[in-house]
Amino acid sequence: MTQSALHQILDYANRPNPYPIYEELRKTPVFHEDDGPYVISTYYEIRSLLHDPRISSDARNLTSTTGGGPAEPPQEESALPPGFLKLDPPEHDRLRRMTNRPFGPPHSPHRVDGMREELHDIVSGLIDGIGDTGRIDLVEQFSYPFPVTVICRLLGVPREDEARFHTWADTLAASLDPDPDADPAGRGKEAHDARMELGMYLAGLIEERRKNPGEDMLSQLATAKGGDGPMSTMELLSTAALLLIAGHETTVNLITNGMLTLLRRPDVLQRLREDPKLAVPLVEELLRFEPPVQLLPQRTTLADIEVRGVTIPKGASLWLVLASGNRDPQRFENPDRFDPDRRDIQHLGLGSGIHSCFGAPLARLEAQTALSELARRMENPRLLEDPPPYRQNAVLRGPRHLPIACDGIRP
Ligand code: HEM
Repeated sequence: MTQSALHQILDYANRPNPYPIYEELRKTPVFHEDDGPYVISTYYEIRSLLHDPRISSDARNLTSTTGGGPAEPPQEESALPPGFLKLDPPEHDRLRRMTNRPFGPPHSPHRVDGMREELHDIVSGLIDGIGDTGRIDLVEQFSYPFPVTVICRLLGVPREDEARFHTWADTLAASLDPDPDADPAGRGKEAHDARMELGMYLAGLIEERRKNPGEDMLSQLATAKGGDGPMSTMELLSTAALLLIAGHETTVNLITNGMLTLLRRPDVLQRLREDPKLAVPLVEELLRFEPPVQLLPQRTTLADIEVRGVTIPKGASLWLVLASGNRDPQRFENPDRFDPDRRDIQHLGLGSGIHSCFGAPLARLEAQTALSELARRMENPRLLEDPPPYRQNAVLRGPRHLPIACDGIRP
């Protein structure tokens, strides 16, 4: 790989198809240039590091001068402490356990499954709204409003406030991107301001939920009295912000990437139309083939660690390129082939280890519902632009718009 490997990953020109760069990168499974991060691109190495307790998600452990980390203000200057995504055990485990109480088994086994009908209704309403215009932008009219509505309902955020946090969410998602060329102070400040405003907004909402608790997750987190005790107000704020952002920018891309992949393969689209159950394996294959989270750029080594004969020093920054691991031929047969019948499919699209995606059951159900209904109801859908225009982000990668023509909407 050449000197400019990291720039190639971040280069917007490569957004429509970053996979040839990853293929090149895998020839050097532990890639390091000058003061840059250590970039890990092969499946088994990524997976093993994600399970290694000597790897930290807490940016405060970064001691080397390596560039390329995401734009983050130092914690003491930040408006909110980091969410549990960026914490290590034991704090991570305690907060994740507490957040899971109102969300999943064993305490809330029906929360996600109980949303099945509601998800279906939201999807139906959005598809009805497409009408017979003959031309739609799937992102604006469907992929974005759907998961935003869902996460708002789950948390108890009034839908009419969505516009207010849209801009904050975009700024925070952009700040996840490492950018060796950008002025870190400038980008850090934008992220800081966005976090501050989002924090103030959520503080008001939590106050309100404490007084008038409902069935939503925010109310339950704000009034929880489980074995771990209540969350502090700051913990509650950063957890709510994490859920809001994590449930916002990722599912949008999974649905859009999914529709793009299907429109490029009309035979698979036809199969899904005839057999909606295909959505389950199809979404797994999508998470492997076009993962919305392409890389994790914020891990740090807590000790010297040897990987494939290279010693990564303590305090170094790691980039784990999940999307490259998902296409590693050492792990997957014919990795560049989209195959919804693939059975051996333990992909890295939702991460792995203690930080693996908290919202995975919801993300899966949302994507399955969305894609099977779009396939069933859109009459003869066709791509109007291939490749479509992409968002700037390299980490959370997906089309900004997906213009589609169709001959109508079936009932
Ligand atoms: C298709 C949609 C989604 C994708 C591809 C995705 C992907 C991921 C990935 C790769 C991670 C691991 C991050 C790491 O190891 O540093 C993660 C963590 C996380 N995700 Fe998701 N996610 C999605 C949807 C959601 C939704 C809907 C929610 C909220 C309801 C959510 C909440 C979280 C949280 C809270 C974490 C942090 C977990 C931890 O640190 O223990 N995600 N997600």
